[in-house]
Amino acid sequence: MKVFLLNEPGGTDNLKMTELPMPVVKAGEVLVQVKAISINPVDVKARAYAGVLSWVFGAERPVVLGWDISGTVTATGEGVKRLKAGDEVFGMVNFIGHGRVYAEYVVAPESHLALKPGNISHPEAAGASMAALTAWQVLRAGNVKPGDRVLIHGASGGVGHFAVQIAKHLGATVIGTASQANADFVRKLGADECYDYATQQFEKLAGDIDFVLDAVQGSTLTHSIEVVRKGGAIITIPSPAIPEADQQKAVAKGVKLSHILVHSNGDDMASIAHLLGSGRLKTHIAEQFSFENMPSAHARLERGNVRGKIVVTLS
Ligand SMILES: NC(=O)c1ccc[n+]([C@@H]2O[C@H](COP(=O)([O-])OP(=O)(O)OC[C@H]3O[C@@H](n4cnc5c(N)ncnc54)[C@H](OP(=O)(O)O)[C@@H]3O)[C@@H](O)[C@H]2O)c1
Repeated sequence: MKVFLLNEPGGTDNLKMTELPMPVVKAGEVLVQVKAISINPVDVKARAYAGVLSWVFGAERPVVLGWDISGTVTATGEGVKRLKAGDEVFGMVNFIGHGRVYAEYVVAPESHLALKPGNISHPEAAGASMAALTAWQVLRAGNVKPGDRVLIHGASGGVGHFAVQIAKHLGATVIGTASQANADFVRKLGADECYDYATQQFEKLAGDIDFVLDAVQGSTLTHSIEVVRKGGAIITIPSPAIPEADQQKAVAKGVKLSHILVHSNGDDMASIAHLLGSGRLKTHIAEQFSFENMPSAHARLERGNVRGKIVVTLS
């Protein structure tokens, strides 16, 4: 089968297409013929930076990158009960760990996958894996409930565009930040307001916030502490390295500030599948690339200003 291998971190040219034997399905796993893969910032960071690559893969080289798939089950391992050959499935495989999904076939724990709703495409399903799962797990961890005022930074990106829709579904008033070009897109997703991060200072415009999903960090995180009410919370996702000054500022204001890392979870994927199937959650695909053009898909995400998701398709 065709795969993309990465021998060492570096530019997009370091992703090399090659042939590998088919993976062997073990107990509790299913073999999936991949129809679509979505690309996330962690894919790009692991490809580009030695520190991130080693954080995920240790000393193993070469590696097959990627975590998000949608495809068709072709074989099942011992003990697999819920899924069968022919089922269309999607999900985030083995994160944080070795997903190995830049391939025509992938073995995945049954427990990481959900059935793909029939009314959405494989690219839409793959796109709604890590990004949607992160939005879901963060908003659940933040205990977002009807009437809450929720601020979402990076609202037009992969995680953000799902978070806006899920927070609205949970009954919150949603305020987003994005670039001017994407402000209308964020409002159409359901946000009650969207501020342009380049020309507007959200900390002067938004207040009394119950919960912040911060997909940006830096000064955006620092200023977020100012707009959250006492007893409110911020979950920041880019990095666990929260500056000590921000920690102290949050403690002084009575704001809970934390980082969480998304984890593979088939039950959460099933909740996302339910929202996708009922039309309450939609994946916005900014651009699709063929599998052969995987390096271009990485380059596109790296350039930024992506509205929603970058997806790679296999024929
Ligand atoms: N902890 C976890 O488990 C976890 C899971 C998933 C992702 N992440 C991390 O979370 C971050 C976002 O992921 P993603 O998939 O959503 O990335 P993405 O698709 O690249 O989206 C990032 C968004 O941030 C926006 N942005 C940039 N600067 C901004 C600012 N100053 N204020 C507000 N918005 C700004 C960008 O808008 P423009 O393009 O218009 O500038 C873009 O829409 C990445 O660092 C990723 O590694 C962490």
